[in-house]
Amino acid sequence: MSTLTASSPREHRVTARSLAQRKSRDEPITMLTAYDFSFARIFDEAGIDVLLVGDSMGNVVQGCETTLPVTLDEVIYHTRLVSRGVRRSLLVGDMPFGSYQVSPEQAVESSIRLVKEGGAHAVKLEGGTHVAEAIERISAAQIPVMAHVGLTPQSVNKMGGFRVQGRGENGRAQVKRDALAVQEAGAFAVVLEGIPAELATEVTQLLEIPTIGIGAGPSCDGQVLVMHDMLGLNDEHPSFVKQYVNLGSLAAQAARQFAEEVGNRKFPEERHCYR
Ligand code: KIV
Repeated sequence: MSTLTASSPREHRVTARSLAQRKSRDEPITMLTAYDFSFARIFDEAGIDVLLVGDSMGNVVQGCETTLPVTLDEVIYHTRLVSRGVRRSLLVGDMPFGSYQVSPEQAVESSIRLVKEGGAHAVKLEGGTHVAEAIERISAAQIPVMAHVGLTPQSVNKMGGFRVQGRGENGRAQVKRDALAVQEAGAFAVVLEGIPAELATEVTQLLEIPTIGIGAGPSCDGQVLVMHDMLGLNDEHPSFVKQYVNLGSLAAQAARQFAEEVGNRKFPEERHCYR
């Protein structure tokens, strides 16, 4: 059980501000996605710094090929579930496609809903120079913003697939421009996804805010993984993923054993019955 209670002093909680200090102390930041109460509680108690209610729910929870169909209402719903399991971690709600691209005003309104209705402590959005104004306006509304540059899955159609970004002279320059633009706009951290490891090293040295890598090599200030990938609940994970356990095969084994024991009337036993 957690040693932290609902009345834990706020200084024990991870905040956007405390994450920034971690970079200067060279203490790596941990981030995992979560989509429900049970896993949120497990990850929070395991000491994960940041829980992201990612629009990756489109892939791993909803079974879609891309994150594009995910709606703001769906992210708000899952953020609310996760918020009930969070005591210490920073809870970041992801802004899905269509919830911030129309205008900076729309971006502020969507962010406010994620905080008010979902219980998010911060929001994340994808993009660089072209979302800088949205980041400025959301930050001005006192909501911390995590940015996301490099391979941005919501741009899958424009990128022509899920391709590594930041290759070649122009690609490298664009990633650096984007990273600097989101920092300048007020983002407190930035996810670097799907870029060469050397470029991630350069960007991490260039920025004052923490970088959190996914498929971006070891020198980022932190690392993030999608929970289904690292827990073995998703067969089709990318090559940069490390699978720490195979919960998928354990669950299948348990389901088979249950079916067998119900079939041969071994379950329920005497001790499972009310008297
Ligand atoms: O939606 C998501 O889970 C993400 C992470 C992969 C960073 O954006």
